[in-house]
Amino acid sequence: MLSENEKLEVLARLGIDLSMIHDLDILMQRILTEARRFVNADAGSIYIRDKDMLHFTYTQNDTLQRRLSEREKLIYSTFSIPVNEKSIAGYVAASSQPLNLPDVYKIEPTKPYHFNKEIDEDSKYTTQSVLTIPLKNFNDDVLGILQIINSQDEAMRVIPFTENDEKMLMHFASIAAVALERAQMTRAILLRMIRMAELRDPKETGAHVNRVGGYAVEIYEKWANNRDLPQKEIDKNRDILRMAAMLHDVGKIAISDLILKKPGRFNRREYEIMKQHTVLGAQLFLDRQSDFDEAAAQVALNHHERWDGQGYPGHVDVRTGKFLHGFERFDGGAQGKKGEEIPLYGRIVALADVYDALSTARAYKEAWDETEILAKIEESTGRHFDPELVAIFFSCLDILHSIQRRYVDED
Ligand code: C2E
Ligand code: SIN
Ligand code: SIN
Ligand code: SIN
Ligand code: FE
Ligand code: FE
Repeated sequence: MLSENEKLEVLARLGIDLSMIHDLDILMQRILTEARRFVNADAGSIYIRDKDMLHFTYTQNDTLQRRLSEREKLIYSTFSIPVNEKSIAGYVAASSQPLNLPDVYKIEPTKPYHFNKEIDEDSKYTTQSVLTIPLKNFNDDVLGILQIINSQDEAMRVIPFTENDEKMLMHFASIAAVALERAQMTRAILLRMIRMAELRDPKETGAHVNRVGGYAVEIYEKWANNRDLPQKEIDKNRDILRMAAMLHDVGKIAISDLILKKPGRFNRREYEIMKQHTVLGAQLFLDRQSDFDEAAAQVALNHHERWDGQGYPGHVDVRTGKFLHGFERFDGGAQGKKGEEIPLYGRIVALADVYDALSTARAYKEAWDETEILAKIEESTGRHFDPELVAIFFSCLDILHSIQRRYVDED
């Protein structure tokens, strides 16, 4: 447990620590971890507000996590509730005031809000003390709800949250909300950039890029765990890769509508033009200002390379798109990168992108069903895809499916 002094230190650093995280999903994970550590709570959730609805977007639960094997992830379903007095989170969003409940099974019947017991029944968990805090920006708009569950004493018995916990977490939430609003803006800007590149092609959507980003970071994390990389480094890379993967096809912005939206199959010339979206995308990040630019360039350039060396664009100079010295092919193209010549993020996004592209309909093809897709991926091991990454992919399919449920195409 943190001492009072340690809590003040965490609070003092929190703004800076959170400002280093740019991706919304990764930020929510960090906010919840820190908030729970702060008041020694077993579980917690974050709801994000969109107009009159609260979307349950992220959750952690140590007790449920312990029932899983070590590095397995907790799978949860997402749902939405209206901003009104009937639920605890809805009440807090509507009133914009914190609510500290010592036992949600003993709420006075005169209160307008109720605890939804179904969540406990489904997960076989007992919620007891619940501290619910609005996440408010400078204008006092409620961006979301931070809900912290089951405070524990040293013996891990559930106890009520104290008034001091409430004060501390209010302060915590005011800092977290600033970071949250910034990350929401970053996500919105990325999605706008992607829409410029891809909404011209109505089948390539924000949902697609969010899924590809989600799959990519799950695969990356397992790859990094296999190598025992420090968690801090993993978290930093997840943050960068999440956004870089979303931009994998941003080079399509420079491809003509005639090709991008062609309703049928490409001929050879059209396909050659389309292939340039890799180099064109990487050129946007040539002026490498940050680790993010580096990663985004790596992903854009390499996401169509193949493990067997038969992908594109191969060993090219990003500025010109022409083969690098010594890598010319008989037809004037560049030799493909092979195996680990392909940078890791390129290998990861290749797999994530094909998995998602096959599962959705495009202007030029129908959606495949899951069995066909998995068979295709299996068969492409060592040909299109890095075998280690394919093994990781199959070991985390449950999580990938939960990401699929979370980012559903709107039409
Ligand atoms: P995309 O639709 O996002 O597809 C990404 C990658 O998923 C493809 O890269 C390919 O490796 C895989 N993929 C997608 N659909 C299929 C499929 O039906 N069969 C197989 N075997 N693999 C599939 P690729 O082929 O390099 O294409 C890059 C992008 O070029 C595609 O992105 C899409 O935007 C476009 N494209 C490719 N072929 C055609 C085509 O014949 N017609 C049109 N209109 N667009 C195409
Ligand atoms: C993520 O998007 O980073 C996690 C998704 C999930 O577990 O639902
Ligand atoms: C290819 O890379 O062979 C084109 C994608 C497809 O087969 O549909
Ligand atoms: C492709 O040809 O690019 C897709 C599938 C494969 O054969 O690995
Ligand atoms: Fe692509
Ligand atoms: Fe794509």
